[in-house]
Amino acid sequence: MEDYNRNIIPHTHVIKADDRIKKNGFKPYLIWFTGLSGSGKSTLASALESHFFNQGYYTYILDGDNIRSGLNKDLDFSNESRKENIRRIAEVSRLFIDAGVIVLTAFISPFRSDRKFAKDLVGQENFFEIHVDCPLEICEKRDVKGLYKKARAGEIKNFTGIDSPFETPETPDLVVDTNRDSLESCLNQLIEEIEPRVKI
Ligand code: ADX
Repeated sequence: MEDYNRNIIPHTHVIKADDRIKKNGFKPYLIWFTGLSGSGKSTLASALESHFFNQGYYTYILDGDNIRSGLNKDLDFSNESRKENIRRIAEVSRLFIDAGVIVLTAFISPFRSDRKFAKDLVGQENFFEIHVDCPLEICEKRDVKGLYKKARAGEIKNFTGIDSPFETPETPDLVVDTNRDSLESCLNQLIEEIEPRVKI
């Protein structure tokens, strides 16, 4: 393959990440939610974003279904496409962090190696991994989007938890159990753990 990158010389920006942090009064951060479809990633990301937004922090959510209808609409649900999905999200997150923003991502992100890629790319000091834990039976019972039913009927292939794997995080920064605990309780756990890390 031709090395297209050999003639690329990155520009050094005058305004540095530290300048933005000083001006904004908080630290940018990548808050990474991982879990099965229907486990509550988007709901929690949204609630946490509202909390930070109301404190005056700059925030943004990158969410599976939204990103897959734009930036990543060329990707399917094969293992390779999921990897590419997360690679792009990680790169976009890195830009957001450089821009001084608290970014919250809500992707199934089923593979450990891909989540590690994101962590290594932005630096572990900027990365917080949350396993949104919920048994498959419960996600399936909730079936908010009706997709589990389709997957069981064979209408959707490679559905996570059915015929595509989810690799449980081995050392997440936090596990929230959305089956056992209420939304409010999960949100409080998130705030308690994460707020001190973005405050300066
Ligand atoms: S990921 O595995 O590549 O991280 P992502 O979070 O972007 O997945 O997208 C998951 C969303 O796409 C699910 O919440 C669901 O609404 C939808 N979806 C459609 N097909 C599938 C599938 N085969 N497996 C999982 N989710 C699917």
